Amino acid sequence: SSELHSRVDYHLKLYLSQKTVLGDGYPNNVLPTSSTSSSLVIEEGFHEQIEPLRQSPVAEGILRRKSLQLRNIQQDWQESEEGQKMQELRRSLPAYKEKEALLNAISRNQVIVVSGETGCGKTTQLPQYILESEIDAARGALCSIICTQPRRISAMSVAERVAAERGEKLGDSVGYKVRLEGIKGRDTRLLFCTTGILLRRLLLDRSLRGVTHVIVDEIHERGMNEDFLLIVLKELLPRRPELKLILMSATLNAELFSSYFGGAPTIHIPGFTYPVRSYFLENILDMTGYRLSTYNQIDNYGQEKMWKMQKQTVRKKKSQIASAAEDALEAADLRDFNPRTRDSLSCWNPDSIGFNLIENVLCHICRKERPGAVLVFMTGWDDINSLKDQLQSHPLLGDPTKVLLLACHGSMDSSEQKLIFNRSEDGIRKIVLATNMAETSITINDVVFVVDCGKAKETSYDALNNTPCLLPAWISKASARQRRGRAGRVQPGECYHLYPKSVYDAFAEYQLPELLRTPLQSLCLQIKSLQLGSISEFLSSALQPPEPLSVQNAVEYLKIIGALDDNENLTVLGRKLSVLPVEPKLGKMLILGAIFNCLDPIMTIVAGLSVRDPFLMPFDKKDLAESAKAQFSSRDNSDHLALLRAFDGWKAAERQQSGHEYCWRNFLSSQTLRAIDSLRKQFYHLLRDGGLVDNMEKCNTWSHDEHLIRAIICSGLFPGICSVVNKEKSVSLKTMEDGPVLLYSNSVNSQEPTIPYPWLVFNEKVKVNSVFLRDSTAVSDSVLLLFGGSVSRGGLDGHLKMLGGYLEFFMKPGLAGTYLALKRELDELIQMK
Ligand code: CDP
Ligand code: MG
Repeated sequence: SSELHSRVDYHLKLYLSQKTVLGDGYPNNVLPTSSTSSSLVIEEGFHEQIEPLRQSPVAEGILRRKSLQLRNIQQDWQESEEGQKMQELRRSLPAYKEKEALLNAISRNQVIVVSGETGCGKTTQLPQYILESEIDAARGALCSIICTQPRRISAMSVAERVAAERGEKLGDSVGYKVRLEGIKGRDTRLLFCTTGILLRRLLLDRSLRGVTHVIVDEIHERGMNEDFLLIVLKELLPRRPELKLILMSATLNAELFSSYFGGAPTIHIPGFTYPVRSYFLENILDMTGYRLSTYNQIDNYGQEKMWKMQKQTVRKKKSQIASAAEDALEAADLRDFNPRTRDSLSCWNPDSIGFNLIENVLCHICRKERPGAVLVFMTGWDDINSLKDQLQSHPLLGDPTKVLLLACHGSMDSSEQKLIFNRSEDGIRKIVLATNMAETSITINDVVFVVDCGKAKETSYDALNNTPCLLPAWISKASARQRRGRAGRVQPGECYHLYPKSVYDAFAEYQLPELLRTPLQSLCLQIKSLQLGSISEFLSSALQPPEPLSVQNAVEYLKIIGALDDNENLTVLGRKLSVLPVEPKLGKMLILGAIFNCLDPIMTIVAGLSVRDPFLMPFDKKDLAESAKAQFSSRDNSDHLALLRAFDGWKAAERQQSGHEYCWRNFLSSQTLRAIDSLRKQFYHLLRDGGLVDNMEKCNTWSHDEHLIRAIICSGLFPGICSVVNKEKSVSLKTMEDGPVLLYSNSVNSQEPTIPYPWLVFNEKVKVNSVFLRDSTAVSDSVLLLFGGSVSRGGLDGHLKMLGGYLEFFMKPGLAGTYLALKRELDELIQMK
């Protein structure tokens, strides 16, 4: 109580300033309300020069001259020797045969749907056909084509490819834009960007003025952003009759999209692929049996020693595989299949077999099969890494110098990327371990063998418990077909499905759209800031609308954090949050950091949470890496503070030119730290434009105060809270929704025998068998009382009522008394002032 007393004035100041910003009754004159900020426009690279030009009387001449110039450049290239060669290559793609039909359909219709096998030339060719025909018609300067990609890496690599095909550098007529990065010039007429970037552009200009064509790629993936974009575009089209929309999809569910847009015509690009033979688990087991006896013969030719050691283990592995597979085969046949829950499939689990099966198949291919690259589909980055380690010197793969093992995933660097696309040298077996990203968005041409584990990591969302999950889930039939197809690009291929045929038969036709399996908070905030009306009404017009309970949870969350008022209107805070390129809770932390003049540390923490974890945890050096991270925590019980210290240490080391060594010593990724740094700069500009900070010095007067940093983290992450009970040798944690929960082993709090605080606030919880918390910070009662939840909602009383629910649940009713006393003191102080 005396501690509370001494801090009450301090808390009061904080409380008042929080109320000033977030509170109702405090009018908008505190903050500028416009959601359009100049630096957002510049950051996103969307300063359109065309529109104002077009309206001026001199415009016509300028635009004509520019268009003729573009046409000359294009013609020069096409007539050059290199250009001719490139043209020839492009003409060999299946899309070329449909070029006229495609351009015709686009000119006659506002919306068309294009489908075709992966690699037929949709992404690289179709946007180019449009650009070329506009330039040829001397309309080059007037057109502006935007092509969206679900992934950063494809937006960047496709733009690079298209620029090369046009004999230009990036930023001439072709550019790209992804979050934090982009190359786009004054003359860029074809822009590849992530879907998120186009959505943010819509925030600035809801009618997409100046844009002539929007191409939405990979719609079959049914990502949340893509589904959302389609609803917005559907509403926009009648208002922009001259705007063209082209939807592109790899698999053949084109009718769904066509009917969503009132029967838009669909064009299919017939592709040519070689036949691919499928093996299911049944066949594969026969093959491994076959292999075992063949290897016995190899022994006789001088490899006896090596083989004797291996024989025992291979035999053991084989019997494990066989019995697990038999169990699974039996079980999979027995039950009914419910595509929604995929229940019957849970009994067949390739994880229980581990990597043995994949190893065996790879050995079989390396030893027995003809030359050709191998593409292995696995569930995630961790699996890929550990299998890669395991295979690196695997005796059964044969001569290690003849095997090129590569990993392919969303955040690989560009040198690794090049190796994947390069045709491997003669006599070298290229094996690419990939996530499902290699299914459609990139094409590796020389693949002859595909190994398909049948699963992919899928985010899902348990609306009843309000918990996101990230679990390996069975893929759909469409995905399995797609994976198989990767083997037949250059010659007949083979595909090894590591699951029984009966399991394949039980797969859903298509994957559940992301909109139906993820939390909707950011999306709902966007709907509100785009003024698209009632959230539930808007979402009900989606291709496949989400469940009402998910929508309700998201709206309720936005109300709790104070982004929406009780009538579902955007609050001042909500409007500010919608322009920040981060999740609402992280945006709230940024705003509070600015208001409490504690900006620098909060910008670092938020950037770290929204980029990715800079702490590396190499599979084989996990212990060392964990203790390196723990050094940054020094009994703070906070992953967020550890991140902050690691970042600040890196900045200091950078100033002494020893950043690289610092990262190496502390298991940190310098690439990630640099990304965090550049996101921090963007935050600063956005907050300055939003009128939330004046100058760097003033907004950091409280930056040294760790209590305050903790308080702001708590305010952002609430209601992500769990209670801490210290047992004799362990700590038990509990959340209101899930009961007992665990910490990821790389959290600094998981290393501690006790946590001397009553609460942990956490950024994210994920259900993987048990519920795990990622990145947590310990907080005290008083911090939770003052900063948990939003004061703006129903004032202090409403705040108390809501917190009371939590306190009661965690059986800490005494705290409510403390809170009341504190509140009384605060009220008195407020009256005195
Ligand atoms: O989009 P879609 O899957 O229909 O095909 P695409 O991405 O346009 O690729 C067409 C062809 O260009 C494929 O044969 C790719 O291998 C090739 N390509 C390439 O060589 N380099 C790239 N960076 C992208 C595509
Ligand atoms: Mg494509």
